[in-house]
Amino acid sequence: MGYIKESFRWARVGTIALLVFLLSAHVFAYEELSDDALRYIPSGGSDFDIKTGSLLSPILIPRVPGTPGSIAVQHHFVDFFSRQLPEWSIEWHNTTAKTPATGDTDIPFKNLIIGRDPPWVRPGDVSRLTLVAHYDSLYRPEGFIGATDSAAPCAVLMHVARSIDEALTKKWETMEELGDALGIDEEKGVQILFLDGEEAWVSWTDADSLYGARALAESWDSEPYASESEYRTRLDSISLFLLIDLLGAADPHVPSYFPSTHWAYQGMSKIEERMRKLGLLKTNPKNPFLPESDKKESQFTRAYIGDDHVPFMVRGVDVLHIIPSPFPPTWHTMDDDGEHLDIDSLDDWAKIITAFAAEWMELGDFIRKPPVEDKKKQASIRLRSEL
Ligand SMILES: *[C@@H]1O[C@H](CO)[C@@H](O)[C@H](O)[C@H]1NC(C)=O
Repeated sequence: MGYIKESFRWARVGTIALLVFLLSAHVFAYEELSDDALRYIPSGGSDFDIKTGSLLSPILIPRVPGTPGSIAVQHHFVDFFSRQLPEWSIEWHNTTAKTPATGDTDIPFKNLIIGRDPPWVRPGDVSRLTLVAHYDSLYRPEGFIGATDSAAPCAVLMHVARSIDEALTKKWETMEELGDALGIDEEKGVQILFLDGEEAWVSWTDADSLYGARALAESWDSEPYASESEYRTRLDSISLFLLIDLLGAADPHVPSYFPSTHWAYQGMSKIEERMRKLGLLKTNPKNPFLPESDKKESQFTRAYIGDDHVPFMVRGVDVLHIIPSPFPPTWHTMDDDGEHLDIDSLDDWAKIITAFAAEWMELGDFIRKPPVEDKKKQASIRLRSEL
């Protein structure tokens, strides 16, 4: 027994040495996802069904802050993550405010922050890809659903989380095992913000809009990390604020809004282009969803759309705003409901944004499904093919 154990141990050390070599040259350098990794990005499938879909349908109800619909949707998020993705931490950010429609009543605004960091990292030392959508719906017209605004984007973010979860686990396990040998201290996490109170209650002003986002940006800006930390504040640790809004209508045209994050827009646009060429998307629009990859520095104007990113952007956070211009024709009308969604467009967004997150988190080598059952056999095939 002892002998067998010993030789097994040495075989393992040999494998690790080989892996160290391969990984240091390959896995942890930023690179595009392979075609195969793109193929393994899952579709939302029936979970985006508007009547029965486990991700989307529970959000397609009125969810005005402080009402039972809002609480039901909060439960939907918390249940999903605590039951299906238990590695993700769940944190509330609760505030109250008065609105011009509700007089002296304190309306509760509850942001949910759901995230995963590498298991070994201290909170102040990790940068986080920050995926954002608002979950509240418009106060008036009464009964407004807001399917694109932003029920569908919330469902997309749930799909992204579950689609990268296993690859994150695998990657971080591998890094923990090999980290010392590699001398790597990459500290990259991911978090999802489901923001409350984006909508204005009467008409859009600085005071009557973005209730949740304003409060959160202020909190995160004024809470410093321990002095020896890599990042000054939680706000400072946001590597990219990727805000998605008004997605789920057919033929979206999403411009690149900011020169400072145009490179990230180009990354997402490239993913769209590659997925279309590989036949992985369901829609076949005349123009791509993200058509402005070639936009020149001089073509950017200072115009932007008021949305949840603004309180973060004015504090220096890098923002990628994925919102169509023009807005969907159903915007802020009773027609912005499940029946008016274009589910194929929505599902294509889910794939594109999942692939973007996987690429950002450098999950390329961990996102693929094992082609054969036997793990050892598979590992040796992989090693040989990569040599
Ligand atoms: C925030 O609100 C949620 C949902 O109502 C509640 O479960 C949680 O305890 C609250 N957190 C704090 C710190 O008050």
